[in-house]
Amino acid sequence: MSRILLLQANPTNSLGATIAKELVTKLEGDVVLRDLMANPVPHITSAYADAIMTRTTTSALDLSEQLIVELEQTDILVITTPVHNFTLPSSLKAWVDHVVRVGRSFGINELGEKGGLLKDRPTYVIVTAGGLFGSPAAQQPDFLTPYMQLALKTIGIHSVEFIMLEGLVMGTEQVSKMTQQARERIVQLSETALTSL
Ligand SMILES: Cc1cc2nc3c(=O)[nH]c(=O)nc-3n(C[C@H](O)[C@H](O)[C@H](O)COP(=O)(O)O)c2cc1C
Repeated sequence: MSRILLLQANPTNSLGATIAKELVTKLEGDVVLRDLMANPVPHITSAYADAIMTRTTTSALDLSEQLIVELEQTDILVITTPVHNFTLPSSLKAWVDHVVRVGRSFGINELGEKGGLLKDRPTYVIVTAGGLFGSPAAQQPDFLTPYMQLALKTIGIHSVEFIMLEGLVMGTEQVSKMTQQARERIVQLSETALTSL
């Protein structure tokens, strides 16, 4: 059975969390839930920054190590996140700051290029937005999907699919449309995942 890490950055009763739950059920694995809203990962400390910059291993890196090992032990990563001010919420960014760690989850070559040290794995990012977000009609920039793609690629995770639910404050018709589209997409994605695992 595959191991799934579900990183949840929105409330348990939110649409994003609901779709994520449906997706992990379809993926038929053992799920570890990391609820970043109920139990936020703390922001990094100056001791953490010092340890990173001086490349020394201290207890300031313990949580980072725990989160990286948790990720390493999973076959599939599912992230559910709302859009906050055009990008990811700070709760998810705090996780990124602990997991994207030089010398541990990525290296830098002599040309200054960063390369991932973790293995690739199927990753699904469910994004919920109040306004139109990411589609051609959107009247706001999307700093979330390119950022998450780059952060994950930096540590070696290239197989990333985004499931977008946008315009969720635009009325029940839009919410129904987005929900239906997301459900169709997760059926398709989970079928592909189950045949390739
Ligand atoms: C602090 C905050 C900032 C937000 N910023 C944006 C934004 O920049 N763009 C947007 O479309 N929606 C924004 N929203 C709306 C959320 O993206 C929206 O409520 C989202 O659909 C919540 O999804 P959920 O029900 O899955 O948690 C913001 C909401 C909050 C609370």
